[in-house]
Amino acid sequence: MKDRDPVTGELPVDPYPQSNANAGAAPYNSAPLVEAFGGREGIRRIAERTVDLSEADPRIAAIFESHDMVRLKRTLSEQFCFLLGAGCDYTGRDMRAAHAEMGVTKADMNALVENLQVAMREAGVPFAAQNRLLAKLAPMSGKVVTR
Ligand code: HEM
Repeated sequence: MKDRDPVTGELPVDPYPQSNANAGAAPYNSAPLVEAFGGREGIRRIAERTVDLSEADPRIAAIFESHDMVRLKRTLSEQFCFLLGAGCDYTGRDMRAAHAEMGVTKADMNALVENLQVAMREAGVPFAAQNRLLAKLAPMSGKVVTR
């Protein structure tokens, strides 16, 4: 395995074109929505908690093994921050490329969404605001679910 970056702690990835279009949807433009998530810091905590819950979730833990969770926490935070209109750029890969060959099922997808809902609930995000993020993610299912 290649060495982790001494500064970011991330594993190197092959080069790919970077664009906010890789985030998979257009962002909202609503200050109250960003506020409902606790701003950028709140969004980052929710994304990281979703990764932690999913890594520890026996239904889907195996899929995360041998992947770079340092990078995933960063890129998922960026993606949520971009989609919620909190002013971040998304620097990760597009959803089809990121999940290719992973064999994610509809049930795996549901488990991840449940973990995100737990993370948002724990953070006190109002239900209507939770549903706005989920509405951005739901149409990405077709690119993530491959069997
Ligand atoms: C709409 C739902 C989903 C979204 C928005 C999403 C988002 C992301 C993002 C932003 C990345 C990082 C891309 C990059 O590194 O450049 C990623 C990678 C990854 N996702 Fe997802 N994901 C979703 C569903 C899932 C599901 C259901 C699973 C498994 C249960 C999963 C497992 C992974 C794994 C293991 C990686 C790391 C890939 C790698 O190391 O190359 N994702 N996802």
